Amino acid sequence: MKVLITGGAGFIGSHLADELLAAGHQVVVIDNYQTGRRDNNTPNAGLKVVEGTIADAALVNKAFDEFKPEKVVHAAASYKDPENWEEDAMSNVLGTINILRASKKHNVSRFVYFQTSLCYGLKPLEQPITLNHPLFSGKSPGGSSYAISKTGAEQYIELSGLNFISFRLANAYGPRNLSGPLPTFFQRLTTNKACFVMDTRRDFIYVKDLTACVMKALSGKGMRGYYHISTGSDYSIKQLFDATIKALGIKLEKDVEVRPRGVDDVFTILIDPSKTKADFDWEAKTPLEDGIKNAIEWYKKFGITQTFTHLKNLEEKH
Ligand SMILES: NC(=O)c1ccc[n+]([C@@H]2O[C@H](COP(=O)([O-])OP(=O)(O)OC[C@H]3O[C@@H](n4cnc5c(N)ncnc54)[C@H](O)[C@@H]3O)[C@@H](O)[C@H]2O)c1
Repeated sequence: MKVLITGGAGFIGSHLADELLAAGHQVVVIDNYQTGRRDNNTPNAGLKVVEGTIADAALVNKAFDEFKPEKVVHAAASYKDPENWEEDAMSNVLGTINILRASKKHNVSRFVYFQTSLCYGLKPLEQPITLNHPLFSGKSPGGSSYAISKTGAEQYIELSGLNFISFRLANAYGPRNLSGPLPTFFQRLTTNKACFVMDTRRDFIYVKDLTACVMKALSGKGMRGYYHISTGSDYSIKQLFDATIKALGIKLEKDVEVRPRGVDDVFTILIDPSKTKADFDWEAKTPLEDGIKNAIEWYKKFGITQTFTHLKNLEEKH
């Protein structure tokens, strides 16, 4: 297979590139290194990396014309500055449109997208959230430039008529993950900074479980439309923290402070994976402790120079 991966130097995209290359497929990555890392892609005869933004239609068209991909994984997304709506709209909306137009021109037979569960808004109306849950609206607002632009992009993907699968994801974690609570805990704990956790729960999906499902989608499994990738179980942020200190071999003098959640914070976000389990014959297998151990090993070996968030104030959230 020839697979073009946007955002292929990022966390999820680079794991997919590795798996496709290991299986003998050819991969082209387009990435502008906003939040991706060069060392996430290991040189390989089957890999070509194009540095640039998907907002540049000429660059996108050239990459497609030269490589002629059969399948596309659209993992690029902008989110690191919540006030930079222009960048989010350029990358997430216009960039997606450029990738869609080129995919249509080249008759791409499968188009995979990764959607944030923020598409259901900050106050989901049910737990676990099913695929019937409405997209964000007045009752459950999107609340961020990231959620708005990612959801606009998802609508264009449906409009394109392409054979798409939009995977709406739980919180992904694992080696190379630089957003969310885990890299923040690692950074603070290894630099002797105090930590606290919020009294909330989240559904955490290990990256290799996630990519196992995407590989099935690329080999033709699944129907055009929407799926969740999640475990369907939630863990408290404190459990995540405790597993992190265990993996680091740290013993704290007293238990981490658990702070009550803010009025706007959701107690739990659980994503129902039942349709994915049935259609892909798939389920998440990695125990949280094992996944965290692997992530910590990567942080220790490669180091974290920067962490990223789409949240306005990370300190308030975890
Ligand atoms: N990690 C999660 O928990 C999670 C949850 C829901 C959805 N997603 C989605 O999954 C996808 C991958 O996320 P990730 O966690 O790997 O994040 P990531 O930041 O590691 O990867 C995104 C990649 O896109 C690149 N990029 C950004 N703007 C670009 C542009 N204009 N042109 C080319 N490349 C660009 C970045 O440099 C980065 O390498 C994203 O679309 C994200 O919205 C992730």
